[in-house]
Amino acid sequence: MLRERIPDLAKCVEPDRVRREVYTDADIFELEMQRIHETVWIYCGHLSQIPKSGDYYTVQIGRQPMIMVRKGDGGVAVLYNRCPHRGNMIVGDMKGNTGEFFRCSYHAWTFHQDGKLKNIPMMESGYQGTRYGKDSPDCNMKPAARVEVYRGFVFASLALKTVLRSRNSSARASSRSTTCAIARRKVKSRSSRTASASSSTRTGSCSWRTRSTRCTLQ
Ligand code: FES
Repeated sequence: MLRERIPDLAKCVEPDRVRREVYTDADIFELEMQRIHETVWIYCGHLSQIPKSGDYYTVQIGRQPMIMVRKGDGGVAVLYNRCPHRGNMIVGDMKGNTGEFFRCSYHAWTFHQDGKLKNIPMMESGYQGTRYGKDSPDCNMKPAARVEVYRGFVFASLALKTVLRSRNSSARASSRSTTCAIARRKVKSRSSRTASASSSTRTGSCSWRTRSTRCTLQ
């Protein structure tokens, strides 16, 4: 058990040093994935990377392979790169254009650009009596729980809500405030012209490597 091996995780990170287990321990890695990467907002890419309908870019969020795709209406979707049928990876290339729909290479199910099921070949003969069908939400490609675009920068989160615990467990930050913090930081940085981009990144609310990591792993 992690608690038995390291009773006080907060002490792993000190102002001037970090215990090596933070980088090597499998249980700490699991916590980091669960509480940070698969919970907070993650930058996926910029809209300029997917200018046309059907353009996609793949990205990893936590342990999940995801697809950022431009929809026909100009919007953007972030979907799990996994077929809801047997888990096959939908797109294998890092980027490309899927056209008007995705097609799984295993049993040829097709999905709209927003991940909704388009068609199941041989539905009548092949899947009769199963729970598969166009009306089943289980047959859609799963979308990220939240997707937001800020000035062309696409962010996604795998969780509906982000709750980060502070060192003393008193402060809780919502993902909304994280997004707002990013916006505020950009505006402040632009107006003052005094702080460099790098220092802004180091001290901003989305700096998970510093603040969030310390906040969460306790
Ligand atoms: S695994 Fe994708 S259609 Fe069967």
